Amino acid sequence: MTRLAAVVLAAGKGTRLKTALPKVLHPIGGLPMVLHALRTAQRAGASERVVVVGHGAEQVEAVVRSFDPDARFARQIEQRGTGHAAATGLAALTQGPERVLILSGDCPLLRPESLHALRAATGDRPVGFLSTELEDPTGYGRVVRDEQRRPIRVVEHKDASSDELRIREVNAGIYDVDLAFLRDTTAQLQSDNAQGELYLTEVVERAAGEAQAFCLADPSEAMGANTRAELAALQEEAWDRAAGRWMTEGTTILGRCHIDEEVQLGQDVTLHPGVHLRGRTRVGDGCVVDVGSVLSDSELAEGVVVHPYSILEQAKVGPGAQIGPFARLRPAADLGPGTKVGNFVEVKKSRLGPGAKINHLSYVGDAEVGAEVNVGAGTITCNYDGFAKHLTRIGDGTFVGSNSTLVAPVELGPGTYVAAGSTVTENSARDDLVFGRARQEVKPGRAKAVREAARRGKI
Ligand code: UD1
Ligand code: CA
Repeated sequence: MTRLAAVVLAAGKGTRLKTALPKVLHPIGGLPMVLHALRTAQRAGASERVVVVGHGAEQVEAVVRSFDPDARFARQIEQRGTGHAAATGLAALTQGPERVLILSGDCPLLRPESLHALRAATGDRPVGFLSTELEDPTGYGRVVRDEQRRPIRVVEHKDASSDELRIREVNAGIYDVDLAFLRDTTAQLQSDNAQGELYLTEVVERAAGEAQAFCLADPSEAMGANTRAELAALQEEAWDRAAGRWMTEGTTILGRCHIDEEVQLGQDVTLHPGVHLRGRTRVGDGCVVDVGSVLSDSELAEGVVVHPYSILEQAKVGPGAQIGPFARLRPAADLGPGTKVGNFVEVKKSRLGPGAKINHLSYVGDAEVGAEVNVGAGTITCNYDGFAKHLTRIGDGTFVGSNSTLVAPVELGPGTYVAAGSTVTENSARDDLVFGRARQEVKPGRAKAVREAARRGKI
Protein backbone atom coordinates (compact mmCIF):
# COMPACT_ATOMS: atom_id res chain seq x y z
CA MET A 1 0.00 0.00 0.00
CA THR A 2 1.18 3.47 -0.88
CA ARG A 3 1.66 5.66 2.17
CA LEU A 4 -0.71 8.58 1.72
CA ALA A 5 -0.81 11.97 3.38
CA ALA A 6 -3.32 14.74 2.80
CA VAL A 7 -2.92 18.49 2.71
CA VAL A 8 -6.16 20.47 2.98
CA LEU A 9 -5.97 24.02 1.64
CA ALA A 10 -8.05 26.18 3.96
CA ALA A 11 -6.30 29.51 4.36
CA GLY A 12 -8.32 31.57 1.87
CA LYS A 13 -10.56 34.41 2.89
CA GLY A 14 -13.53 33.71 0.67
CA THR A 15 -13.58 37.25 -0.67
CA ARG A 16 -16.44 36.49 -3.06
CA LEU A 17 -18.64 35.25 -0.19
CA LYS A 18 -18.41 38.63 1.55
CA THR A 19 -18.36 36.94 4.93
CA ALA A 20 -17.00 37.47 8.43
CA LEU A 21 -16.84 33.71 8.99
CA PRO A 22 -13.79 32.06 7.40
CA LYS A 23 -15.01 30.53 4.13
CA VAL A 24 -14.10 26.93 5.01
CA LEU A 25 -16.21 27.12 8.19
CA HIS A 26 -19.42 27.70 6.28
CA PRO A 27 -21.48 24.57 6.90
CA ILE A 28 -22.85 22.20 4.30
CA GLY A 29 -25.19 19.60 5.76
CA GLY A 30 -24.42 21.04 9.20
CA LEU A 31 -20.72 20.25 8.88
CA PRO A 32 -18.16 23.02 8.19
CA MET A 33 -16.71 22.57 4.70
CA VAL A 34 -13.16 22.03 5.96
CA LEU A 35 -14.39 19.01 7.95
CA HIS A 36 -15.92 17.49 4.83
CA ALA A 37 -12.45 17.63 3.27
CA LEU A 38 -10.84 16.06 6.36
CA ARG A 39 -13.44 13.32 6.55
CA THR A 40 -12.93 12.51 2.88
CA ALA A 41 -9.16 12.42 3.43
CA GLN A 42 -9.59 10.03 6.37
CA ARG A 43 -11.89 7.78 4.36
CA ALA A 44 -9.47 7.78 1.43
CA GLY A 45 -6.80 6.38 3.77
CA ALA A 46 -4.62 9.45 4.37
CA SER A 47 -2.86 8.52 7.59
CA GLU A 48 -1.29 11.95 8.02
CA ARG A 49 -3.38 15.09 7.61
CA VAL A 50 -2.20 18.69 7.48
CA VAL A 51 -4.55 21.66 7.23
CA VAL A 52 -3.17 24.89 5.81
CA VAL A 53 -4.76 27.75 7.72
CA GLY A 54 -4.51 31.53 7.41
CA HIS A 55 -7.71 33.55 7.49
CA GLY A 56 -9.37 33.01 10.86
CA ALA A 57 -6.62 30.49 11.65
CA GLU A 58 -7.49 30.11 15.34
CA GLN A 59 -11.17 29.61 14.61
CA VAL A 60 -10.47 27.06 11.89
CA GLU A 61 -7.93 25.21 14.03
CA ALA A 62 -10.39 24.92 16.92
CA VAL A 63 -13.08 23.45 14.69
CA VAL A 64 -10.65 20.99 13.08
CA ARG A 65 -9.16 19.92 16.42
CA SER A 66 -12.53 18.99 17.87
CA PHE A 67 -13.22 16.75 14.87
CA ASP A 68 -9.81 15.30 14.05
CA PRO A 69 -7.38 15.58 16.98
CA ASP A 70 -4.59 13.99 14.90
CA ALA A 71 -4.69 16.66 12.19
CA ARG A 72 -1.78 19.09 12.16
CA PHE A 73 -1.65 22.69 11.01
CA ALA A 74 0.55 24.81 8.80
CA ARG A 75 0.06 28.56 8.96
CA GLN A 76 0.11 30.42 5.68
CA ILE A 77 0.59 33.97 6.89
CA GLU A 78 0.16 35.62 3.51
CA GLN A 79 -2.23 34.01 1.02
CA ARG A 80 -0.08 33.93 -2.09
CA GLY A 81 -2.09 31.33 -3.97
CA THR A 82 -2.85 27.62 -3.99
CA GLY A 83 0.73 26.67 -4.98
CA HIS A 84 2.13 28.62 -2.07
CA ALA A 85 -0.48 27.06 0.23
CA ALA A 86 0.47 23.55 -0.88
CA ALA A 87 4.18 24.32 -0.31
CA THR A 88 3.35 25.60 3.16
CA GLY A 89 1.48 22.39 3.90
CA LEU A 90 4.32 20.22 2.64
CA ALA A 91 6.74 21.81 5.05
CA ALA A 92 4.65 20.40 7.91
CA LEU A 93 4.64 16.83 6.58
CA THR A 94 6.96 14.17 7.95
CA GLN A 95 9.20 12.28 5.55
CA GLY A 96 6.93 9.23 5.83
CA PRO A 97 4.45 9.45 2.97
CA GLU A 98 5.19 8.70 -0.66
CA ARG A 99 2.19 10.52 -2.09
CA VAL A 100 0.14 13.49 -1.07
CA LEU A 101 -3.52 14.16 -1.68
CA ILE A 102 -4.21 17.85 -1.97
CA LEU A 103 -7.77 18.76 -1.15
CA SER A 104 -9.53 22.06 -1.33
CA GLY A 105 -11.27 23.22 1.84
CA ASP A 106 -14.16 24.54 -0.24
CA CYS A 107 -15.10 21.40 -2.17
CA PRO A 108 -17.35 19.52 0.27
CA LEU A 109 -19.19 17.05 -1.97
CA LEU A 110 -16.15 15.11 -3.13
CA ARG A 111 -16.59 11.36 -2.50
CA PRO A 112 -13.79 9.22 -1.05
CA GLU A 113 -14.44 6.68 -3.83
CA SER A 114 -13.35 9.33 -6.32
CA LEU A 115 -10.01 9.66 -4.52
CA HIS A 116 -9.62 5.88 -4.73
CA ALA A 117 -10.38 6.06 -8.46
CA LEU A 118 -7.86 8.88 -8.85
CA ARG A 119 -5.25 6.84 -6.98
CA ALA A 120 -5.85 3.83 -9.25
CA ALA A 121 -5.73 5.96 -12.40
CA THR A 122 -2.61 7.86 -11.37
CA GLY A 123 -0.39 4.97 -10.24
CA ASP A 124 3.26 6.13 -10.22
CA ARG A 125 2.76 9.22 -12.36
CA PRO A 126 4.00 12.42 -10.78
CA VAL A 127 0.54 14.06 -10.79
CA GLY A 128 -3.06 12.98 -11.02
CA PHE A 129 -5.95 15.36 -10.63
CA LEU A 130 -9.72 15.33 -10.80
CA SER A 131 -11.64 17.11 -13.51
CA THR A 132 -15.25 17.25 -14.64
CA GLU A 133 -17.29 18.62 -17.50
CA LEU A 134 -19.51 21.58 -16.67
CA GLU A 135 -22.32 23.17 -18.67
CA ASP A 136 -21.15 26.51 -17.35
CA PRO A 137 -17.43 26.40 -16.54
CA THR A 138 -17.23 30.10 -15.61
CA GLY A 139 -14.63 30.80 -12.94
CA TYR A 140 -12.96 27.39 -12.99
CA GLY A 141 -9.54 26.48 -14.37
CA ARG A 142 -9.81 24.76 -17.79
CA VAL A 143 -8.02 21.51 -18.62
CA VAL A 144 -5.97 21.89 -21.80
CA ARG A 145 -5.19 18.60 -23.57
CA ASP A 146 -2.79 17.84 -26.44
CA GLU A 147 -3.55 15.90 -29.63
CA GLN A 148 -3.23 12.61 -27.77
CA ARG A 149 -5.78 13.86 -25.22
CA ARG A 150 -3.09 14.10 -22.55
CA PRO A 151 -3.67 16.92 -20.05
CA ILE A 152 -0.76 19.31 -20.47
CA ARG A 153 -1.88 22.42 -18.65
CA VAL A 154 -4.60 23.98 -16.52
CA VAL A 155 -5.39 27.55 -17.38
CA GLU A 156 -7.31 29.77 -14.96
CA HIS A 157 -10.44 31.52 -16.19
CA LYS A 158 -8.78 34.90 -15.76
CA ASP A 159 -5.73 33.84 -17.80
CA ALA A 160 -7.54 31.93 -20.53
CA SER A 161 -7.72 32.87 -24.21
CA SER A 162 -11.13 32.99 -25.87
CA ASP A 163 -10.49 29.51 -27.34
CA GLU A 164 -9.54 28.13 -23.93
CA LEU A 165 -12.64 29.67 -22.35
CA ARG A 166 -14.73 27.40 -24.56
CA ILE A 167 -13.24 24.27 -22.92
CA ARG A 168 -15.83 22.69 -20.66
CA GLU A 169 -13.54 20.28 -18.84
CA VAL A 170 -12.54 21.99 -15.59
CA ASN A 171 -10.02 21.34 -12.85
CA ALA A 172 -11.70 20.21 -9.62
CA GLY A 173 -8.69 21.38 -7.59
CA ILE A 174 -8.01 17.92 -6.09
CA TYR A 175 -4.63 16.29 -6.67
CA ASP A 176 -2.72 13.07 -6.00
CA VAL A 177 0.94 13.99 -6.24
CA ASP A 178 4.29 12.31 -5.71
CA LEU A 179 5.83 13.98 -2.66
CA ALA A 180 9.33 14.45 -4.06
CA PHE A 181 7.97 15.86 -7.33
CA LEU A 182 5.70 18.25 -5.44
CA ARG A 183 8.53 19.52 -3.26
CA ASP A 184 10.65 20.23 -6.34
CA THR A 185 7.97 21.91 -8.41
CA THR A 186 6.39 24.05 -5.72
CA ALA A 187 9.86 25.51 -5.10
CA GLN A 188 9.93 26.69 -8.72
CA LEU A 189 6.44 28.17 -9.18
CA GLN A 190 6.11 31.57 -10.84
CA SER A 191 3.50 34.23 -10.20
CA ASP A 192 3.42 35.70 -13.72
CA ASN A 193 -0.32 35.41 -14.15
CA ALA A 194 -3.45 37.55 -14.01
CA GLN A 195 -3.80 37.20 -10.23
CA GLY A 196 -0.10 37.49 -9.41
CA GLU A 197 -0.35 34.27 -7.38
CA LEU A 198 1.53 31.01 -7.18
CA TYR A 199 -0.81 28.53 -8.86
CA LEU A 200 -0.76 24.90 -7.81
CA THR A 201 -2.21 24.10 -11.23
CA GLU A 202 1.28 24.66 -12.65
CA VAL A 203 2.25 21.16 -11.47
CA VAL A 204 0.26 19.78 -14.41
CA GLU A 205 2.38 21.64 -16.93
CA ARG A 206 5.57 20.72 -15.08
CA ALA A 207 4.69 17.03 -15.29
CA ALA A 208 5.40 17.45 -19.03
CA GLY A 209 2.78 15.13 -20.45
CA GLU A 210 2.99 12.70 -17.55
CA ALA A 211 -0.03 14.08 -15.67
CA GLN A 212 -3.24 12.12 -15.42
CA ALA A 213 -6.71 13.68 -15.26
CA PHE A 214 -9.56 11.58 -13.91
CA CYS A 215 -12.86 13.00 -15.12
CA LEU A 216 -15.67 12.84 -12.55
CA ALA A 217 -19.03 11.70 -13.94
CA ASP A 218 -20.90 13.64 -11.26
CA PRO A 219 -19.99 17.32 -11.57
CA SER A 220 -21.39 18.14 -8.12
CA GLU A 221 -18.29 16.50 -6.61
CA ALA A 222 -16.16 19.25 -8.10
CA MET A 223 -18.42 22.10 -7.07
CA GLY A 224 -16.62 24.79 -5.10
CA ALA A 225 -18.24 27.36 -2.85
CA ASN A 226 -16.93 30.71 -4.00
CA THR A 227 -20.24 32.60 -3.92
CA ARG A 228 -23.43 32.50 -1.84
CA ALA A 229 -25.26 31.09 -4.86
CA GLU A 230 -22.74 28.24 -5.09
CA LEU A 231 -23.05 27.62 -1.35
CA ALA A 232 -26.83 27.33 -1.72
CA ALA A 233 -26.46 24.93 -4.66
CA LEU A 234 -24.03 22.77 -2.66
CA GLN A 235 -26.42 22.71 0.26
CA GLU A 236 -29.34 21.57 -1.93
CA GLU A 237 -27.19 18.82 -3.39
CA ALA A 238 -26.04 17.71 0.08
CA TRP A 239 -29.67 17.40 1.24
CA ASP A 240 -30.64 15.47 -1.90
CA ARG A 241 -27.77 13.08 -1.31
CA ALA A 242 -28.64 12.60 2.37
CA ALA A 243 -32.28 11.85 1.56
CA GLY A 244 -31.23 9.40 -1.16
CA ARG A 245 -28.79 7.68 1.21
CA TRP A 246 -31.35 7.30 4.02
CA MET A 247 -34.04 6.00 1.70
CA THR A 248 -31.58 3.29 0.65
CA GLU A 249 -31.12 2.49 4.35
CA GLY A 250 -34.87 2.01 4.86
CA THR A 251 -36.22 5.44 5.79
CA THR A 252 -39.53 6.68 4.41
CA ILE A 253 -39.15 10.30 3.33
CA LEU A 254 -42.39 11.85 2.21
CA GLY A 255 -41.19 15.16 0.81
CA ARG A 256 -38.29 17.54 1.06
CA CYS A 257 -36.43 17.06 4.36
CA HIS A 258 -33.11 18.47 5.51
CA ILE A 259 -30.94 15.83 7.10
CA ASP A 260 -27.51 16.90 8.32
CA GLU A 261 -24.39 14.83 7.71
CA GLU A 262 -23.96 13.49 11.24
CA VAL A 263 -27.56 12.49 11.84
CA GLN A 264 -28.27 8.81 12.55
CA LEU A 265 -31.60 7.15 11.76
CA GLY A 266 -32.88 3.73 12.83
CA GLN A 267 -34.99 1.41 10.71
CA ASP A 268 -38.49 2.22 9.48
CA VAL A 269 -38.32 5.87 10.42
CA THR A 270 -40.89 8.06 8.66
CA LEU A 271 -40.13 11.70 7.92
CA HIS A 272 -42.88 13.97 6.66
CA PRO A 273 -42.31 17.05 4.46
CA GLY A 274 -40.29 19.94 5.83
CA VAL A 275 -38.61 18.03 8.67
CA HIS A 276 -35.16 19.30 9.60
CA LEU A 277 -32.81 16.95 11.43
CA ARG A 278 -29.76 18.88 12.54
CA GLY A 279 -26.40 18.32 14.15
CA ARG A 280 -25.96 14.98 15.86
CA THR A 281 -29.62 14.09 16.09
CA ARG A 282 -30.36 10.37 16.57
CA VAL A 283 -33.75 8.90 15.69
CA GLY A 284 -34.63 5.38 16.85
CA ASP A 285 -36.41 2.56 15.00
CA GLY A 286 -39.99 3.16 13.94
CA CYS A 287 -40.16 6.84 14.92
CA VAL A 288 -42.43 9.20 13.02
CA VAL A 289 -41.44 12.84 12.70
CA ASP A 290 -44.32 14.79 11.26
CA VAL A 291 -44.50 17.90 9.10
CA GLY A 292 -42.30 20.87 9.86
CA SER A 293 -40.60 19.59 12.99
CA VAL A 294 -37.03 20.70 13.68
CA LEU A 295 -34.76 18.46 15.77
CA SER A 296 -31.29 19.68 16.70
CA ASP A 297 -28.76 17.50 18.53
CA SER A 298 -31.62 15.50 19.99
CA GLU A 299 -32.15 11.83 20.64
CA LEU A 300 -35.36 9.87 20.09
CA ALA A 301 -35.59 6.28 21.35
CA GLU A 302 -37.68 3.80 19.34
CA GLY A 303 -41.32 4.33 18.47
CA VAL A 304 -41.50 8.02 19.32
CA VAL A 305 -44.05 10.15 17.47
CA VAL A 306 -43.25 13.81 16.99
CA HIS A 307 -46.42 15.51 15.78
CA PRO A 308 -46.24 18.50 13.41
CA TYR A 309 -44.34 21.69 14.08
CA SER A 310 -42.46 20.65 17.17
CA ILE A 311 -39.03 22.04 18.00
CA LEU A 312 -36.49 19.91 19.88
CA GLU A 313 -33.05 21.10 20.91
CA GLN A 314 -30.60 18.92 22.84
CA ALA A 315 -33.53 16.92 24.13
CA LYS A 316 -33.74 13.22 24.94
CA VAL A 317 -36.98 11.32 24.41
CA GLY A 318 -37.74 7.82 25.70
CA PRO A 319 -39.42 4.97 23.81
CA GLY A 320 -43.01 5.38 22.70
CA ALA A 321 -43.29 9.01 23.80
CA GLN A 322 -45.62 11.42 22.00
CA ILE A 323 -44.55 14.99 21.36
CA GLY A 324 -46.58 17.91 20.03
CA PRO A 325 -48.08 19.20 17.83
CA PHE A 326 -46.43 22.57 18.52
CA ALA A 327 -44.30 21.36 21.43
CA ARG A 328 -40.94 22.82 22.35
CA LEU A 329 -38.28 20.75 24.08
CA ARG A 330 -35.29 22.80 25.09
CA PRO A 331 -31.81 21.68 26.23
CA ALA A 332 -31.72 18.93 28.87
CA ALA A 333 -35.37 18.02 28.50
CA ASP A 334 -35.23 14.30 29.31
CA LEU A 335 -38.50 12.48 28.74
CA GLY A 336 -39.06 8.94 30.01
CA PRO A 337 -40.77 6.08 28.20
CA GLY A 338 -44.40 6.56 27.23
CA THR A 339 -44.48 10.23 28.22
CA LYS A 340 -46.71 12.76 26.50
CA VAL A 341 -45.90 16.41 25.91
CA GLY A 342 -48.71 18.06 24.02
CA ASN A 343 -49.47 21.30 22.21
CA PHE A 344 -47.96 24.60 23.32
CA VAL A 345 -45.93 22.96 26.03
CA GLU A 346 -42.35 24.06 26.69
CA VAL A 347 -40.02 21.80 28.67
CA LYS A 348 -36.50 22.85 29.69
CA LYS A 349 -33.89 21.06 31.81
CA SER A 350 -36.44 18.70 33.30
CA ARG A 351 -36.74 14.97 33.72
CA LEU A 352 -40.10 13.29 33.16
CA GLY A 353 -40.65 9.83 34.64
CA PRO A 354 -42.30 7.01 32.69
CA GLY A 355 -45.85 7.77 31.59
CA ALA A 356 -45.85 11.40 32.78
CA LYS A 357 -48.19 13.67 30.84
CA ILE A 358 -48.12 17.40 30.20
CA ASN A 359 -50.73 17.71 27.53
CA HIS A 360 -51.55 21.37 27.06
CA LEU A 361 -50.21 24.92 27.36
CA SER A 362 -47.59 24.52 30.07
CA TYR A 363 -44.08 25.58 30.98
CA VAL A 364 -42.00 23.07 32.90
CA GLY A 365 -38.41 24.12 33.63
CA ASP A 366 -35.81 22.91 36.15
CA ALA A 367 -38.13 20.16 37.31
CA GLU A 368 -38.10 16.52 38.27
CA VAL A 369 -41.43 15.03 37.35
CA GLY A 370 -42.12 11.51 38.64
CA ALA A 371 -43.71 8.53 36.93
CA GLU A 372 -47.38 8.73 35.87
CA VAL A 373 -47.69 12.35 36.94
CA ASN A 374 -50.45 14.34 35.25
CA VAL A 375 -49.69 18.02 34.80
CA GLY A 376 -52.90 19.87 33.99
CA ALA A 377 -53.38 22.46 31.25
CA GLY A 378 -51.78 25.81 31.83
CA THR A 379 -49.48 24.72 34.65
CA ILE A 380 -46.34 26.77 35.13
CA THR A 381 -43.24 25.97 37.14
CA CYS A 382 -42.06 29.36 38.41
CA ASN A 383 -38.40 28.39 38.31
CA TYR A 384 -36.91 31.89 38.32
CA ASP A 385 -37.38 34.44 41.09
CA GLY A 386 -35.57 37.21 39.27
CA PHE A 387 -32.24 36.25 40.82
CA ALA A 388 -31.69 32.51 40.52
CA LYS A 389 -33.20 29.32 39.14
CA HIS A 390 -34.81 26.83 41.54
CA LEU A 391 -35.97 23.25 41.33
CA THR A 392 -39.50 21.82 41.34
CA ARG A 393 -39.91 18.18 42.39
CA ILE A 394 -43.15 16.38 41.66
CA GLY A 395 -43.47 12.86 43.15
CA ASP A 396 -44.76 9.78 41.33
CA GLY A 397 -48.47 9.65 40.59
CA THR A 398 -49.10 13.28 41.50
CA PHE A 399 -52.01 15.12 39.91
CA VAL A 400 -51.49 18.83 39.27
CA GLY A 401 -54.78 20.57 38.52
CA SER A 402 -55.04 22.95 35.58
CA ASN A 403 -53.71 26.48 35.76
CA SER A 404 -51.51 25.86 38.78
CA THR A 405 -48.32 27.73 39.45
CA LEU A 406 -45.62 25.80 41.28
CA VAL A 407 -43.31 28.36 42.86
CA ALA A 408 -39.82 26.84 43.11
CA PRO A 409 -38.09 25.66 45.15
CA VAL A 410 -40.97 23.37 45.99
CA GLU A 411 -41.50 19.66 46.39
CA LEU A 412 -44.72 17.65 46.06
CA GLY A 413 -44.70 14.21 47.66
CA PRO A 414 -45.83 11.17 45.68
CA GLY A 415 -49.56 10.97 45.07
CA THR A 416 -50.17 14.63 45.92
CA TYR A 417 -53.36 16.10 44.51
CA VAL A 418 -53.17 19.81 43.65
CA ALA A 419 -56.48 21.56 43.17
CA ALA A 420 -56.87 23.47 39.91
CA GLY A 421 -55.79 27.09 39.97
CA SER A 422 -53.48 26.69 42.95
CA THR A 423 -50.40 28.77 43.59
CA VAL A 424 -48.20 26.27 45.37
CA THR A 425 -45.43 27.68 47.56
CA GLU A 426 -45.17 25.01 50.24
CA ASN A 427 -44.08 21.40 50.08
CA SER A 428 -46.53 18.53 50.39
CA ALA A 429 -46.08 14.98 51.67
CA ARG A 430 -47.33 11.66 50.27
CA ASP A 431 -51.02 11.71 49.25
CA ASP A 432 -51.68 15.26 50.53
CA LEU A 433 -54.40 17.39 49.02
CA VAL A 434 -53.16 20.90 48.22
CA PHE A 435 -55.32 23.98 47.79
CA GLY A 436 -53.62 27.26 47.05
CA ARG A 437 -56.41 29.56 45.95
CA ALA A 438 -59.10 31.84 47.34
CA ARG A 439 -62.17 29.92 48.44
CA GLN A 440 -65.10 30.35 46.06
CA GLU A 441 -68.20 32.20 47.18
CA VAL A 442 -71.65 31.72 45.65
CA LYS A 443 -74.26 34.47 46.21
CA PRO A 444 -77.65 33.04 45.26
CA GLY A 445 -79.54 35.11 42.66
CA ARG A 446 -77.13 38.05 42.84
CA ALA A 447 -76.31 37.88 39.10
CA LYS A 448 -79.71 39.33 38.32
CA ALA A 449 -79.16 42.32 40.67
CA VAL A 450 -75.77 42.98 39.06
CA ARG A 451 -77.32 43.02 35.60
CA GLU A 452 -80.00 45.48 36.68
CA ALA A 453 -77.47 47.81 38.30
CA ALA A 454 -75.45 47.72 35.08
CA ARG A 455 -78.52 48.64 33.03
CA ARG A 456 -79.15 51.70 35.29
CA GLY A 457 -75.53 52.73 34.79
CA LYS A 458 -74.65 52.17 38.45
CA ILE A 459 -71.68 49.94 37.72
C1 UD1 B 1 -8.90 26.70 -7.84
C2 UD1 B 1 -8.02 26.29 -9.04
C3 UD1 B 1 -8.89 26.11 -10.27
C4 UD1 B 1 -9.99 25.10 -9.99
C5 UD1 B 1 -10.79 25.49 -8.74
C6 UD1 B 1 -11.72 24.35 -8.37
C7 UD1 B 1 -5.84 27.32 -8.72
C8 UD1 B 1 -4.94 28.43 -9.13
N1 UD1 B 1 -7.02 27.30 -9.28
O1 UD1 B 1 -9.45 27.97 -8.14
O2 UD1 B 1 -8.09 25.66 -11.38
O3 UD1 B 1 -10.85 25.02 -11.14
O4 UD1 B 1 -9.91 25.70 -7.63
O5 UD1 B 1 -12.52 24.69 -7.29
O6 UD1 B 1 -5.45 26.50 -7.94
N2 UD1 B 1 -6.19 28.71 -0.55
C9 UD1 B 1 -5.24 28.80 0.44
N3 UD1 B 1 -4.25 29.74 0.32
C10 UD1 B 1 -4.16 30.57 -0.77
C11 UD1 B 1 -5.15 30.46 -1.75
C12 UD1 B 1 -6.14 29.53 -1.62
O7 UD1 B 1 -5.26 28.06 1.42
O8 UD1 B 1 -3.22 31.36 -0.80
C13 UD1 B 1 -7.25 27.70 -0.38
C14 UD1 B 1 -8.63 28.30 -0.27
O9 UD1 B 1 -8.99 28.50 1.09
C15 UD1 B 1 -9.53 27.26 -0.93
C16 UD1 B 1 -8.60 26.55 -1.89
O10 UD1 B 1 -7.28 26.89 -1.53
O11 UD1 B 1 -10.00 26.33 0.03
C17 UD1 B 1 -8.85 26.96 -3.35
O12 UD1 B 1 -8.65 28.36 -3.47
P1 UD1 B 1 -9.64 29.28 -4.31
O13 UD1 B 1 -9.19 30.68 -4.17
O14 UD1 B 1 -11.03 28.97 -3.96
O15 UD1 B 1 -9.31 28.77 -5.78
P2 UD1 B 1 -10.22 28.91 -7.07
O16 UD1 B 1 -10.12 30.28 -7.59
O17 UD1 B 1 -11.56 28.36 -6.79
CA1 CA C 1 -12.63 27.68 -4.96
